[in-house]
Amino acid sequence: MVQLETDPTRITSAVRAARQRGRRVGFVPTMGALHAGHASLVEAAAAACDAVVVSIFVNPTQFGPHEDFARYPRPVEADLALLEQLGVQWAFMPSVEAVYPDGSSHGQAEQVHVAGPALPFEGAIRPGHFAGVATVVKRLFEIVPADAAFFGAKDWQQTLVVRQMVESYRLPIEIVVCPTVREADGLARSSRNAYLTPADRARAVALHDGLAAAAARWEAGDCVAVAEAALRETLEARGIACDYAAIVEPDSLTPLSDPSGPAIALVAGRLGSTRLIDNRLLPARPDVARQS
Ligand code: PAJ
Repeated sequence: MVQLETDPTRITSAVRAARQRGRRVGFVPTMGALHAGHASLVEAAAAACDAVVVSIFVNPTQFGPHEDFARYPRPVEADLALLEQLGVQWAFMPSVEAVYPDGSSHGQAEQVHVAGPALPFEGAIRPGHFAGVATVVKRLFEIVPADAAFFGAKDWQQTLVVRQMVESYRLPIEIVVCPTVREADGLARSSRNAYLTPADRARAVALHDGLAAAAARWEAGDCVAVAEAALRETLEARGIACDYAAIVEPDSLTPLSDPSGPAIALVAGRLGSTRLIDNRLLPARPDVARQS
């Protein structure tokens, strides 16, 4: 039976007690509206650990003033039913006051400072977003003192921000990044896909198709600009406004220093009022290195 816990002190004690009994505890932080992407993280955690904690917390500090905090989906019963089915031990669902007892959800107290890979792309378009993510993940890691935490490669830049935060605070937790789960047509699973009209849902696959087009150009040995253009043009051909289409260093998100890679292609597009992001790792291509 999944145990629902809302009190931080109690979940901290429960996790500590489990670890003292020699059990390895895995943690999957989420904002709920759970789908197959979240389920894959839970399954990875269950395979690597003896007990799994899933947090469901729609974190106000990572949403901008004009973003979708208020309308973010909160299907609590369906979420708990899925966690039950997945054999999760604890569902941690704190209130905003429990996570931010000092009132800092309104920007009045300590925020984690983010830099480096947090600054470009999503960081530039959503000011304050990654500071909010890093702050809440740090607080969640303090409340849930697990052995390992599981994140999706779908939010690649977020995984870099979380790793950076864990390193700078020397938090004793292992970060595991799991592959992106996709719909049959290739669209990355996302809680925000629920906002799409049927017509926009049909067009949304252009993010995945654009990444495939960029990967084809990359593997054919084309230069970065050509592969980036293939990505952007695939979105624009379907009438999707492209916030960015870039091929960069996978760990720092800085411009590629070596055209032989490896690299990551990052894309963000807007369909009506819904923003979607996706990415694809591009393998090293040693032939290009020999030419340059
Ligand atoms: P949320 O969007 O709910 O995502 C929770 C976790 O699920 C993240 O690690 C995310 O990368 C992963 N995920 C989402 N879609 C996925 C997919 N299609 N395949 C694999 N993994 C996927 O990300 C957040 O919440 C928040 O920012 C959070 C880290 C919980 C902090 O508030």
